Amino acid sequence: MTKATLLLATLSTLVYPSAAISTAQPGCPSSCGGLTIPYPFGIGTGCFRDGFEITCQMSKITTNKNYVPVPTLAGTTVQVLNLSLGVAEVMVQLPIGWQCYNQSGVEAYYTAEVDFNPKSVYRISNTHNLFVVIGCNSLAYIESQRDSNGLYSYDYYTGCVSFCNDSSSITEGACSGVGCCQVTIPSGLTDNSVIFDGYSHDRILSFSPCSYAFLVDKC
Ligand SMILES: *[C@@H]1O[C@H](CO)[C@@H](O)[C@H](O)[C@H]1NC(C)=O
Ligand SMILES: *[C@@H]1O[C@H](CO)[C@@H](O)[C@H](O)[C@H]1NC(C)=O
Ligand SMILES: *[C@@H]1O[C@H](CO)[C@@H](O)[C@H](O)[C@H]1NC(C)=O
Repeated sequence: MTKATLLLATLSTLVYPSAAISTAQPGCPSSCGGLTIPYPFGIGTGCFRDGFEITCQMSKITTNKNYVPVPTLAGTTVQVLNLSLGVAEVMVQLPIGWQCYNQSGVEAYYTAEVDFNPKSVYRISNTHNLFVVIGCNSLAYIESQRDSNGLYSYDYYTGCVSFCNDSSSITEGACSGVGCCQVTIPSGLTDNSVIFDGYSHDRILSFSPCSYAFLVDKC
C-alpha cells in the first residue's frame, strides 16, 4: 500500500453561541485561498474569537508549483480544508506518523505531533475520525491530553496492532489486523501524537520496512 497523500481529520469545536454570524467581522478578510472564513474563525487582530485564529500564508502545495494562499490553524502548519458553522467543525490535514526499520532495528520515526489546541477550543471528533495503522508487526497508538500529575504523562492512549505472518497474508482492501488495523477513538482526544512499538521486522523487512499511523475522517 502506498502512503496516503490527503487525509482529512475533523476537529469539533467546543460550545459557542449557535446564533453565530455566518460572515467575517467588518473590516476582516472574509476568505483565504477560496475558503470562506466566518466568525468566530478569523484572520488578523480583532477578527477572531479567542482560540479560533486562522492564518493565511503563502505556501506551496505539493501538487502545485506556485505559492498560493493557504489557511492554517494559527501557530501551526495544519492546513484547514473546510469550516462548518452549523455543526461547528473544522476539516484539517494532519501529518502522518511513521516508523521505519532496517537490518539493525528502528532506523527512524516521526510522531507527527501537532499542538493545534493552545486555547483548548478544539477536540478531535470521535464521530468523524478513526485511528488507522498501515504496516506490519507494529503496535501504534495516539496519546492525548498531557497530564504531568497522573501515572502516565497523558490522559488518553488508544491504538491497535497489525501483524503480518508473511507477504502473502496481506489482503488488499481489508483493515482488520493484518497489514492494517483501525480503531474508533474516545471523545476526549485533543492532540495528535503517535507512538510506535515495533515487533521483530526480520521476516517482513523486504516487503514492509515502514508503518504509518494517522487519524482519518471516515466520511
Ligand atoms: C464543507 O463545508 C460545507 C458547509 O458546511 C459543506 O456543504 C461541504 O460539503 C463541505 N465540504 C467537504 C469536502 O466536506
Ligand atoms: C539502521 O539505522 C540506524 C539509525 O539510522 C543506523 O545507525 C544503522 O547503521 C542502520 N543499519 C543498517 C544495517 O543500515
Ligand atoms: C506463516 O509464514 C510461514 C513462513 O513464511 C509459512 O510457512 C506459513 O505457512 C504461514 N502461515 C500462514 C497461516 O499463512
